[in-house]
Amino acid sequence: MKRLSLLVSGRGSNMAAIIDACRHGHLAATVELVISNHKTSPALTLAQANNIKTAHLNTDTHASPETLDRAMRDTLRAHDIDLVVLAGFMQKIGPHMLAHYKNRIINIHPSLLPKYGGQGMYGMNVHRAVMAAGEKESGATVHVVNDAYDAGTILAQQVVAVASTETPESLAIKVLQVEHVLFAETIQKIIDGRILLPTD
Ligand code: GRF
Repeated sequence: MKRLSLLVSGRGSNMAAIIDACRHGHLAATVELVISNHKTSPALTLAQANNIKTAHLNTDTHASPETLDRAMRDTLRAHDIDLVVLAGFMQKIGPHMLAHYKNRIINIHPSLLPKYGGQGMYGMNVHRAVMAAGEKESGATVHVVNDAYDAGTILAQQVVAVASTETPESLAIKVLQVEHVLFAETIQKIIDGRILLPTD
């Protein structure tokens, strides 16, 4: 049984899928803590409704990115977290977090990385870019978080076909549905050793 912390900023549908997978025994883990950088994010409310401990940490609650980074690391350490899961977390992870949780922070991205990743590639921007390029496929990627946006080791991907009638909005829905399954499955594979996190 692994102790997870989920980091969120907004809607929280991936968070909800992971909580659900734990509850139904598809994921041998517990969600110990949800951290949001937005006080009003629906994800935070949803976590509280599920009786999960929450913390709201951002640059309003802390004087500088440096103290915020340390506070996030220390909060996770205090909860004895094994794996940090970014589930729609719209803030760069700082060096203190990266050092302490090296290769133990993972993220999900709504494209087939390395395509359509990097700064500015989030939300509908990703799906619009995929459509504009005339791609026949897109998908979702779970990867390790390092100091560059969307650039850490790829752990799992799932392809989604882009239909001839597709719009960025319809593609976003399709990819999100895939994310909800892929994320929990990948975490379970990490837990039982079918997917190995890097050890460098
Ligand atoms: C997802 O599309 C995920 O790929 C990206 O942020 C979005 C979060 O959605 N990193 P939600 O908050 O989980 O609904």
